[in-house]
Amino acid sequence: MERIAVGMLGLGNVGSGVAHLLGQCGDRIAVRSGKRVDLKWAVVRDPAKSRDVDLAGVRLVTDARRVIEDPEVGVVIEAMGGTDPALSLILEALAAGKDVVTANKALLAEHGPQVFAQARKYGRAIAFEGSVGGGIPIIQALGVSLAANQVQSLAAIVNGTCNFILSAMTQDGLTYDVALRQAQELGYAEADPTLDVDGSDTAHKLAILAQLAFGASVKTAQIAREGIDRLQLADLKYAAELGYAIKLLALAKLSDSGLELRVAPTLVKKGTPLAEVRGPYNAIRVVGDAVGDTFFYGRGAGMMPTASAVVGDLIDVVVGRAALTSRALNLWPEAAPAPRLSSA
Ligand code: NDP
Ligand code: HSE
Repeated sequence: MERIAVGMLGLGNVGSGVAHLLGQCGDRIAVRSGKRVDLKWAVVRDPAKSRDVDLAGVRLVTDARRVIEDPEVGVVIEAMGGTDPALSLILEALAAGKDVVTANKALLAEHGPQVFAQARKYGRAIAFEGSVGGGIPIIQALGVSLAANQVQSLAAIVNGTCNFILSAMTQDGLTYDVALRQAQELGYAEADPTLDVDGSDTAHKLAILAQLAFGASVKTAQIAREGIDRLQLADLKYAAELGYAIKLLALAKLSDSGLELRVAPTLVKKGTPLAEVRGPYNAIRVVGDAVGDTFFYGRGAGMMPTASAVVGDLIDVVVGRAALTSRALNLWPEAAPAPRLSSA
C-alpha cells in the first residue's frame, strides 16, 4: 500500500488532537483511500514538554526545515499558529512540492493572496476546513456544496471562546475572568486570547467566509469590529430580561449598496436558533438565492472538533480531491477587483 508521510508544524491543542485522531482512524483512511498516512514529523518549540498523546514513531524536532526538506513528506499540516514563522514555512513547503493543510485563520485572512498564489505557482493544494467553525464543514459547504448560489447573507457565531464566556456568565454565573480562564484551560482560546475577546478572530473568520461566499478579498482591517471585552454582566442581564441573548456575531449582507461586513455583540431574540447556541458551539446561518435558508451547527473550538476538520482535509488531500477544489475555486485571485463595501 502507498505510504504518505506527513509533517506537522505544531503539536499543541490542534496538533495533539490531529496526532490522536490519526492514531484512531489510520485504518479507516487506508481502507477509504488505499493509502497509509504516516505522521513522520512533529515540529515544536520544546521537545522536552510532556504531551498527552501517543507519539510512537513520530520524530519530534524544533527545526521545521528538516520536515520541509524531507523528500518523503507529501503533506505539511501547519498547526503552529501566528504568521511568523508559519507564513514563510507554508510558502517554503508549497515551493518544495508539499500540499498544505492549515487551520490558521489569522494567516489566511491576512495573507490569503500570497499563500494561494504560491499554491497555484507550484500546483499544490491548500485545505483549511479547520480555520472557520472548528468541526463544522462550512468551508466545504460554501466552496463546493452551495457554490451554485449567490449568497445573500451570513450570520454566524464563529468564536467558541466568546460564546463559551457569554454562556458561562449568563447560565452558570461565572465572572468574565473565570470564564476566560476556563476557555483557555479547555484549549478553546488563541495563544493570545485578546484576539478572541476583541473580535479579531471572528473578523479573520469573516474575511475567509467573505472570500468563499462573495468572492470578496477583504482585509481584516476593513471589517468594522467590536468584541465582548467591554460588555458588562448588567448588559447580559438586561438583555435577558427583555427576551434577548447577546451573541458575538459575524454578519455579512449583500445589497444594492455593496457588501456589508461587521463583527459585533448583537441582541438575538431568545428561542431563535442562534440565541440557543451555547458553550464552545458555533453556528452559521447562510442564505443563498437558490437554496434559501441554511443553518450549520457544531463544536467550533477545541482539540478534537478541529482535529476532525484537519484530518478530513488531510484525507481530501491524500485522495486528490483537495488539489481539484483548490484549483477550481481560484480563491484570493491575484487580480481581484476591490470589493464594494457598504457601511450601512
Ligand atoms: P497551541 O499554542 O496550543 O500550539 C502551538 C504549537 O505550535 C505548540 O506545539 C508549539 O510548540 C508549536 N510552535 C509554536 N511556535 C513555534 C515555533 N516558532 N517553532 C516550533 N514550534 C512552534 O495552539 P493551538 O493548537 O490552539 O492552535 C494552532 C492553530 O490552530 C492556530 O492557528 C489557531 O488559531 C488554530 N485553531 C485553533 C483552534 C483551537 O480550538 N485551539 C481551533 C481552530 C483553529 P510547544 O508545544 O513546544 O510550545
Ligand atoms: N480561539 C478560537 C475560538 C479557536 O475560540 O473559536 C477556534 O477557531
